[in-house]
Amino acid sequence: MTEDQHLETDFARNANGTVIEVENLHKDYGDIAAVDGITFSVNPGETYGLLGPNGAGKTTTMRLLSGLSPATSGSIAVAGIDVIKDNRAVRELMGVVTQHDGLDGGLTVFQNLFLYGFLAGLSRARAKERAHEVLEFFSLRDRSKANVYELSGGMKRRLAIARSMMTSPKVIVMDEPTTGLDPQSRNRVWEEMAVLKDSGVTILLSTHYMEEATILCDRLSIMDHGKILDEGTPDQMIERHAPKEVAQLRVVPAALRSVREYLTGRNISYREVGALVSVTGANGDRPDLSGLEGVEGVRTSYRAGNLEDVFLAITGRELRDG
Ligand SMILES: Nc1ncnc2c1ncn2[C@@H]1O[C@H](COP(=O)(O)OP(=O)(O)OP(=O)(O)O)[C@@H](O)[C@H]1O
Ligand SMILES: [Mg+2]
Repeated sequence: MTEDQHLETDFARNANGTVIEVENLHKDYGDIAAVDGITFSVNPGETYGLLGPNGAGKTTTMRLLSGLSPATSGSIAVAGIDVIKDNRAVRELMGVVTQHDGLDGGLTVFQNLFLYGFLAGLSRARAKERAHEVLEFFSLRDRSKANVYELSGGMKRRLAIARSMMTSPKVIVMDEPTTGLDPQSRNRVWEEMAVLKDSGVTILLSTHYMEEATILCDRLSIMDHGKILDEGTPDQMIERHAPKEVAQLRVVPAALRSVREYLTGRNISYREVGALVSVTGANGDRPDLSGLEGVEGVRTSYRAGNLEDVFLAITGRELRDG
């Protein structure tokens, strides 16, 4: 598809120039504060990430933003629309990729796209034309007549993203677009998202994957228990919260006990995931592991601090455990 036709970048902004503006947003489900007073904004063309473990409130935030669920209190403005007052208007403007695809398994790939566009208000002719365009863009043309249940997980996910593009939205929310995909399909989705991003679409993305956030997000926030714990660019977050260097020890089971004793004896903090022991020195500097040199069954390597470390430092939990 050509850029001028379908991915125009000049779109309505909020009064202060942002595309998404969320202020002191709350959503309670009975006693549960699913979203507990969050404030953030997203600039035109930015990809903004929400990172958080299960139950952090990411999906709830996205549902509130896309007008699918009413807020308990607070304000949301998307492209100049007050979402609390006019949730219909935002639904027309925004593309949404939900956590579970919500594709119609009884219909073909083409029919899924066509029907979505038609129900969203495109004319029959335009919905048909647009379906062909997005099939082309997402390289799904040769699967156009396949039933959704015949598609692989990766293709379904790409179809769900393709479907959200039927109305040429300028703002798109994607709830865990690559969860459960194999690395190859995930790469494919990342490539397609990068093209959308390049074309100026503003993206709000939730993810459990550090690599995804690092590659795609201009800025991100870390959420837990309905609150935003910190916000910044990936580099800022790493600078603020991650150690400069982390030593990684691959340890055979027989050597594990002596490694633990060595580290504990020197008050060096570490964490274990399977046979991998991650060690951070004081002040985030390189830890002194000279005493482990030459110990049989221990292989040491060093890596730079990353978003995984940021997440752990802020929430006390591993990101991949979600
Ligand atoms: N419809 C609902 N009714 C009652 N409680 C809900 C509802 N939807 C979400 N919750 C609760 O709100 C909290 C936040 O859930 P939410 O789905 O937003 O988390 P999440 O960050 O998307 O998690 P995940 O990573 O597992 O998708 C959880 O405690 C959840 O149980
Ligand atoms: Mg969710």
